[in-house]
Amino acid sequence: MVKEKILVIGASGQIGVELTMALRKIYGNANVVASDLREENPLLKGTGPYVSLDVMNKEMLHVQVIRQNITQIYLLAAILSATGEKNPNLAWSLNMQSLLNVLDIAREEKLHKVYWPSSIAVFGPTSPKQNCPQQTIIEPITVYGISKYAGEFWCNYYFNRYGVDVRSLRYPGLISYKSEPGGGTTRLCCRDFS
Ligand SMILES: NC(=O)c1ccc[n+]([C@@H]2O[C@H](COP(=O)([O-])OP(=O)(O)OC[C@H]3O[C@@H](n4cnc5c(N)ncnc54)[C@H](O)[C@@H]3O)[C@@H](O)[C@H]2O)c1
Repeated sequence: MVKEKILVIGASGQIGVELTMALRKIYGNANVVASDLREENPLLKGTGPYVSLDVMNKEMLHVQVIRQNITQIYLLAAILSATGEKNPNLAWSLNMQSLLNVLDIAREEKLHKVYWPSSIAVFGPTSPKQNCPQQTIIEPITVYGISKYAGEFWCNYYFNRYGVDVRSLRYPGLISYKSEPGGGTTRLCCRDFS
C-alpha cells in the first residue's frame, strides 16, 4: 500500500481541527501535517506536526510539499460567506488563488489527491427550495458562492486537462462542538441563538 502523507491547509479552523484529528487517527499522527496562517489551534497541540503557512505564497507552499513528501492536500483555507461580503475582493482573491496554487502544485508534483470543500452557497434564490438537485439553476449571490462555483469548474478543468484527482462536496452550514465556527452563516446562526 502507498504511504500517504497529508497536508491540511487551514487546519486551525472550524473543520480543520476535527478533520486533522480524524485523519491522524486513520493515517497516523506523523503523516498528517497541520498548517495555517494563524497559530496552531490549542486542540491540535501535541497531536502531530504543525507548520505555519500562507497558502497564497505559492513558493513556500511548494517547498513544504516537497520537504514533507506530501501526497495529498486538504485545502480548507477560505474566506467564508459573511466575512466575504465585508471584503469581496479579498474573498475572491484568497478563495481562487489558494485553489489555483494547490491545483498547480498537485499537477507538478503528481499528488495522489486534493480535497477542497465547496458549499451550498453556490445556490441562490432562484434554485429550487426543496429537494434541490446537484445540477439545477445555480445563480449565487455572494462572492463566496461565486468563488465556490468557479472553483468547482477549476477542479473539473484540472481533472480533465491534467488528470489531477481532486474531490469536492457542497457542504451545508456545519455545526461543531470542539472548534469555533469561522466567518460563515453558521457563525451568524449560532450568535442569533446564543
Ligand atoms: N464551516 C462550514 O459550515 C462550511 C460550509 C461549507 C463549506 N465550508 C468550507 O470548508 C472550508 C473550511 O471552512 P471552516 O469553516 O473550517 O473555515 P474557518 O474560517 O473556520 O477556517 C479557515 C482557516 O483557514 C485559515 N486561513 C485563512 N487564510 C489563510 C491563508 N492565506 N493561508 C493559510 N491558512 C489560511 C484561517 O486562519 C482559518 O484557520 C472552507 O473552504 C469553507 O468554504 C465550510
